[in-house]
Amino acid sequence: MSENRPEARPPLLTVENLCVAYGAIEALHGVSLTVGKGEVVTLIGANGAGKTTALKAIVGLLRPKRGRVIFNGADIAGRPTHEIVARGIALSPEGRGIFPDLTTLENLELGAYRQPDRAQFRRDLDHVCALFPRVKERLKQRAGTLSGGEQQMVAIGRALMSRPTLLLLDEPSLGLAPLVTRAIFNALGELNRAGLSILLVEQNAHLALARSHRGYVLETGRLALAGSAAELAQDARVREAYLGQ
Ligand SMILES: Nc1ncnc2c1ncn2[C@@H]1O[C@H](COP(=O)(O)OP(=O)(O)O)[C@@H](O)[C@H]1O
Ligand SMILES: [Mg+2]
Repeated sequence: MSENRPEARPPLLTVENLCVAYGAIEALHGVSLTVGKGEVVTLIGANGAGKTTALKAIVGLLRPKRGRVIFNGADIAGRPTHEIVARGIALSPEGRGIFPDLTTLENLELGAYRQPDRAQFRRDLDHVCALFPRVKERLKQRAGTLSGGEQQMVAIGRALMSRPTLLLLDEPSLGLAPLVTRAIFNALGELNRAGLSILLVEQNAHLALARSHRGYVLETGRLALAGSAAELAQDARVREAYLGQ
């Protein structure tokens, strides 16, 4: 996933001048970014930079104050989340958002609540189970009893059940052991090779850049840098601030 051919990829998502506020406090001050068809794009930034806010605004969980969110040619800014999900964007949220008292299967069903076709549901479930064999083994188990890594897999699986063309991932590696993180990123690589576009938020900049085509650096609600993953990984400011080098 490390080649850089942005010119070869028509935009799937174009965010223009996105401003988002919590009451009187503005958290995003005019962010613009694109995700091309088939691209993995990473958004790097320190805690509180506005990464989660950006993902929530794209999927309609927060209403932008200003700006445009163009997906597949339509401006979806301010549209309700269910409509945005129906158009093909899904979010695997920060903290996973698993319902602990429901089973794994019930959690996955929530991601497919709009799917009336039982056979299609079955195929999508089989796809998630093939991608994450650990999830398959835990379908009948209460999700709250799963390990952190398994819960992350369920969160991603639930997002996939809505059949997205763009997957938003908010800190999928947070709190996970390196081996589990690798399994998750390998699955993301497989999904991308099958055509899924991904916008990834990570504090683990090393890992994210190694697995992305391009990236953006967000600092206190503004974009500070943009470039190919290789360029960002070499950038002195990125190395100092985010790669610990
Ligand atoms: N629900 C909220 N109410 C008020 N301020 C918030 C809320 N959520 C986030 N913020 C503020 O918005 C800014 C960006 O937060 P967030 O998007 O969560 O950052 P990140 O995901 O990069 O850590 C921070 O200053 C944070 O304190
Ligand atoms: Mg966050």
